[in-house]
Amino acid sequence: MNTIRALVFDAYGTLFDVHSVVAESERRFPGRGAELSRLWRQKQLEYTWLRSLMGRYEDFTRVTADGLAHACAALGLPLDAAASRALMECYDHLSCYTEVPATLDVLSGFRRAILSNGSPRMLGAVVANAGLTDRLEAVLSVDPLRVYKPHPSVYALACERLGVTAAEVGFVSSNFWDISGATAFGFRTFWINRSGAMPDELGQRPYAIVGNLAELPPLLA
Ligand code: LAC
Repeated sequence: MNTIRALVFDAYGTLFDVHSVVAESERRFPGRGAELSRLWRQKQLEYTWLRSLMGRYEDFTRVTADGLAHACAALGLPLDAAASRALMECYDHLSCYTEVPATLDVLSGFRRAILSNGSPRMLGAVVANAGLTDRLEAVLSVDPLRVYKPHPSVYALACERLGVTAAEVGFVSSNFWDISGATAFGFRTFWINRSGAMPDELGQRPYAIVGNLAELPPLLA
């Protein structure tokens, strides 16, 4: 454990609650907010993987908007331009999970960075609005690579930008597909399993599983 020098965090679902959009979804589409939020997130992720396989990168703002358009169409919810704008704006103001700021402070002995599929603009906004800017040394986006996680080149970007080896990185994500990619790349991985999810069968297991971020510091001590 004492080889870990940098902690690299996934953003959406890990530090920030993507389902913060439920309130606005519910306001726009009463009774359907949670369902919309779930399908929207599922499509957003699918589109990142599919676009990467197709070699047709568009940034995370675009795939997020496309996922929203599909989810509304599939659920029979009328999405006009104003609703689309309002729901997309929620992404700039996602809440971070309550334990995140204090835990990042406890972990200040490590270098701390985000590595995310988010576009630089979206990440800048959500990090600043949650008050995390000063708690992170770097906010790294896949955007310059034009391919999404879990492509290995994305994890390599973190090593390059932080000047560390894979073995020196502790990687933290609540997304098991991301944990799989990061473990395969050679990071020491910590899966935040907030919801009692089952691991995916992708041939990889995390180094450790925690229920929330606050359980991480004792494992690194
Ligand atoms: C991230 C998302 C996709 O990379 O969870 O932040």
